[in-house]
Amino acid sequence: MYHRLPAFRSANGTGPGSCYHCSVGHVGFAPFGSWGESVMRRMKGLVLAGGKGSRLRPLTATGAKQLVPVANKPVLFYALEQLVEAGITDIGIITGDTGSQVREAVGDGSAFGARVTYIPQPAPLGLAHAIITAQAYLADDPFCMFLGDNFLMGGIVDHARRFAESSCQGQILLKHVNDPSAFGVAVLDDAGRVTQLVEKPKEPISDLAVIGVFFFGPEVHEITPRLMPSARGELEITDAIQGLIDAGYEVRSSLITDQWVDTGKKDDMLEANRLVLATLKGRIDGSVDHASTIVGEVVIEAGATVAGSTVRGPAVIGAGAVISDAYIGPFTAIGASCTLSGCEIEHSIVLDRSIIRNVSHRIADSLIGREVVIERSPLKPQAIRLLLGDHSSVAVI
Ligand code: TTP
Repeated sequence: MYHRLPAFRSANGTGPGSCYHCSVGHVGFAPFGSWGESVMRRMKGLVLAGGKGSRLRPLTATGAKQLVPVANKPVLFYALEQLVEAGITDIGIITGDTGSQVREAVGDGSAFGARVTYIPQPAPLGLAHAIITAQAYLADDPFCMFLGDNFLMGGIVDHARRFAESSCQGQILLKHVNDPSAFGVAVLDDAGRVTQLVEKPKEPISDLAVIGVFFFGPEVHEITPRLMPSARGELEITDAIQGLIDAGYEVRSSLITDQWVDTGKKDDMLEANRLVLATLKGRIDGSVDHASTIVGEVVIEAGATVAGSTVRGPAVIGAGAVISDAYIGPFTAIGASCTLSGCEIEHSIVLDRSIIRNVSHRIADSLIGREVVIERSPLKPQAIRLLLGDHSSVAVI
């Protein structure tokens, strides 16, 4: 059982999302449980946790990018929790090369209140290829496809309910962005129906980016077998959606106002970490000595010790970590069983069992993998000595 950090629903339980021409009100809908159960019977989940993860190397050389932690919890777990929160408990997980790690982390899904089926994808041939791979599992059921590396504050409750109550064949989530040329964008008609999808538009045709949560009816299986690989050799989800539209099916849009992060790169992970930690409620289950100062919202997990240090929240110190003579600054998540002494770190993520010792410069804006050692050598010459994996990135001053 993993440790639960706060779930993200608005205080009134409606979720802060808004949508075009929503057929139901956003405020004060029926108690979640009763509605959730009815959706549960109707919709499956499909979480994509395969892929290459090339933008997050070298971390992804040894680990699944969907298991990189946000506030000490794998980003994938937020997607699973949000599906369950929306009443979707029958969940298929697409896996790739890192499938065994994903299986080990998620298990049979019971820790999430879900029933999980693993669906190995032979190669990362695209998001629409993942749907083809999962077709036997999905059968004739409508489903919510959630990219396992996408992080969405506010959850999907409203959006799932809206799709479940509609008769449309597709529904996509959109967000206004400042730089549409970096995204797949959607063009809508006056009723909020999607008329066209454009990948990374050069002309300013729309500023509504397509985010990584999609709802489909079984009609999508009529479209996916006919898709051709794109220039990058993948079966694209945008082509599948455009295929639905061109075949005369209705694809609706739901506009989100919540924060959304596609955690494909280091700074995206740090941003998701920042968003979650900003909502943190402090809790000290470990031990803190009298020479230490804890400021703001700080979680110190059981078995962690903090001595002669300052921890300025929001920050999380993982179970069994040892922090001594150190400064842990805001928006930092230190993984389980890490050792930090004689160092300063802020706005960073450190994965489990890493050691940072006697480093005179403050570390900031960093994503540090598992069992990494960063230390100032007592030996002369006091040069920087590195043993870095392929695609590592180090900024030295
Ligand atoms: P992407 O981030 O689009 O692709 P990627 O994982 O190959 O990453 P990169 O661009 O850094 O190489 O994938 C979005 C999510 O979907 C992610 O969780 C991986 C997953 N995915 C699959 O499960 N199967 C696939 O065929 C692809 C392309 C992605």
